[in-house]
Amino acid sequence: MIDRINLLKAEIDSLRAISREEVEQLRLKYLSKKGLVSALFDDFKSVPAELKREVGALLNELKHASHEKFESLKSDFDTKETSDPAGQDLTRPAVNALPGARHPLSIVRNQIIDIFARIGFTVAEGPEIEDDWHNFSALNFTPDHPARDMQDTFFIASNPDILLRTHTSSVQIRTMESTKPPIRMIFPGRVFRNEAISARAHCIFHQVEGLYIDKHVSFTDLKQTLMYFAKEMFGENTEIRLRPSYFPFTEPSGEMDVSCLICGGVGCNICKHTGWVEILGCGMVDPNALENCGIDSTVYTGFAFGMGIERITMLKYQIKDLRLFFENDVRFLQQFTGAF
Ligand code: DAH
Repeated sequence: MIDRINLLKAEIDSLRAISREEVEQLRLKYLSKKGLVSALFDDFKSVPAELKREVGALLNELKHASHEKFESLKSDFDTKETSDPAGQDLTRPAVNALPGARHPLSIVRNQIIDIFARIGFTVAEGPEIEDDWHNFSALNFTPDHPARDMQDTFFIASNPDILLRTHTSSVQIRTMESTKPPIRMIFPGRVFRNEAISARAHCIFHQVEGLYIDKHVSFTDLKQTLMYFAKEMFGENTEIRLRPSYFPFTEPSGEMDVSCLICGGVGCNICKHTGWVEILGCGMVDPNALENCGIDSTVYTGFAFGMGIERITMLKYQIKDLRLFFENDVRFLQQFTGAF
């Protein structure tokens, strides 16, 4: 009997209700004449005489606590429902409204757009659902290129020509098809890859692509532009390093590292003790890509680059886990209030 009383007490103590009606239903379940508390009082008759004193006291305590609990559940709704202005204390200080904040990825995307806008780059966007031509073929990817593999790319089962773009380089093609050079543009946007989600990878992420096509554009222009970007983004003392690399749509291609912001190049966990952190891929637009879009590669040259916004944001704000960007936990997001 004592155990049953204690159990019921704990049960009632933990009750929650989402409406006034639910409070009433619960009250009937526990406190009405046929309720669970009353049932214990009925059983009290059969308690042996020597225990009656102890059990009786416990039962009274249970009854008392239950009444209090239901009063407090009810009063929750009394305060929540004071929509009647006559019943409100109008001199009470207002509830603080939480200030909204931009998402850190939006903050950094806007910074990137601003930095390039200052040297004459305009912004365009392309579709997230692409076809093979714009995402791969026109960018000089061979038919058997591993990036097309099911492991990397989300294809649409009913039509293998349709896919979720794996990079914003597709917008280079759309722009070159529709715009006569000179072209000086950046393309921010969301991209998709068939990746398992972890602290360093996600199936959705964001890139900003850059494209500059004109007569006499050279690798020097590319390097100067990227150096300007790195210093504006990460600070005047930032150094850059270009390493040779391979992308099908640029020739020559490179990857750019910036000197580690955290340790200043001495070596730390973030830069894996190399002093450098990779932030983007780049190169001179391959003549095949120009020709695929109807641009005469004997007249025009150009450079392109592509960077991951998550990567740059993680570096800038020292965020160690990519998943934080997608969980929308206000404790994380609130830290960027006032950042921009
Ligand atoms: N599209 C490449 C990627 O997602 C990045 C990239 C590399 C973009 C070189 C470029 C480029 O425009 O020139 O990995």
